Amino acid sequence: MNEFKPGLEGVVAFQTAIAEPDREGGALRYRGVDIEDLVGNFHYEQVWGLLVDESFQPGMPDPEPYEPASLTGNAPSDLQAETARLSSVWNLKKLVDIDPGQARDDLARLSAQMMAIVARSAAVHDGREPAPDDVVAQGKTAAEKFLLRWRGEADPDHAKAIDTYWICTAEHGLNASTFTARITASTGADCGAAMSGAVGALSGPLHGGAPARVLPMLDAVAESGDPEGYVKSILDEHGRIMGFGHRVYRAEDPRSRLLKRTAKELGSPRYEVAEALEEAALDALKERKPDYVIATNVEFYSAVVLDVADVPPDLTPAMFACARVAGWAAHILEEKRTGRLIRPSAQYVGPGERPASEVDGAPVPS
Ligand code: ACO
Repeated sequence: MNEFKPGLEGVVAFQTAIAEPDREGGALRYRGVDIEDLVGNFHYEQVWGLLVDESFQPGMPDPEPYEPASLTGNAPSDLQAETARLSSVWNLKKLVDIDPGQARDDLARLSAQMMAIVARSAAVHDGREPAPDDVVAQGKTAAEKFLLRWRGEADPDHAKAIDTYWICTAEHGLNASTFTARITASTGADCGAAMSGAVGALSGPLHGGAPARVLPMLDAVAESGDPEGYVKSILDEHGRIMGFGHRVYRAEDPRSRLLKRTAKELGSPRYEVAEALEEAALDALKERKPDYVIATNVEFYSAVVLDVADVPPDLTPAMFACARVAGWAAHILEEKRTGRLIRPSAQYVGPGERPASEVDGAPVPS
């Protein structure tokens, strides 16, 4: 067990009963239920219940009235900062000092409020006042309420796009942000600390930030009309095509399949160009990396589906965070119930023993 694995690839760090990404078969099940059974039959807030409580009822609650201190309009950093602040505003107790029921309730409050914070931050970004609670209350689902708070209106197609996207991306095993949430939870910190740490981990382009980079690719291909040439130019420069490749799946990502279908059903104006780029990318990646399966990942058609709902690219990491509150909450709770302090080792490869006087910047003896 002392072997170093770059990126911890293949290292089993936990046992989990929450979700099962089926690496070879290209399916994703939440608590045993295929996401294909969830989309269209349940709403996100019920799926939150499935993941956290293993029951569709009562699901994620509505957010309680709360005014964030100061929002900048940069949703991921607003979300990270405000979530951390909630720990002190709500006086959340440390996970080691509360029972699982209290932890669950803290996570439910936080999850609902985190969505509201993103909606408010998006309104600030647009130069608008977030809608008041009585307007938001007219929404029937979490997605409708999110849109109402952000824009004061909720187009049914936009709500469907967001609901589907949130369900598809609610949980995915031990990705970087969930690992961060579990590490923080394993120290016995409070739920706000664990959730806000996860938001920071999610904000990077190799994890949750990829959709923001997909739409510019679609624009470039739409303008040139040459998907093959566009893909070639990226790969010749040793660049990465955003929305392709996955650490876990060695088959089609099932979420990509569902989101692609949704984009088509909702009449996305970018559907055709996305399909052309996808085809060109898959062909080129297969040719250049015949022994390493690089397929379409969740981020590619997420970008297209979120575009249907007029979600601007720079808001997509925060939309992903909204979706993932369910997965993070479920894992934080699982960590509380079953975990012990996470403390792996590092292999030291630095300089050998030496005196301080040999280090750059050491005072020269006079
Ligand atoms: N475009 C071009 N080349 C790629 C891509 C890609 N999208 N993905 C992997 N490769 C190549 C790498 O350049 C590397 O080639 P090399 O061996 O010649 O250096 C090889 O495949 C292996 O790359 P790794 O990063 O080791 O593969 P891994 O399976 O760990 O990568 C990752 C997973 C990080 C997601 C990667 O595929 C990637 O960077 N994709 C683009 C970003 C993206 O879409 N991120 C969203 C992921 S989904 C999510 O987090 C929810």
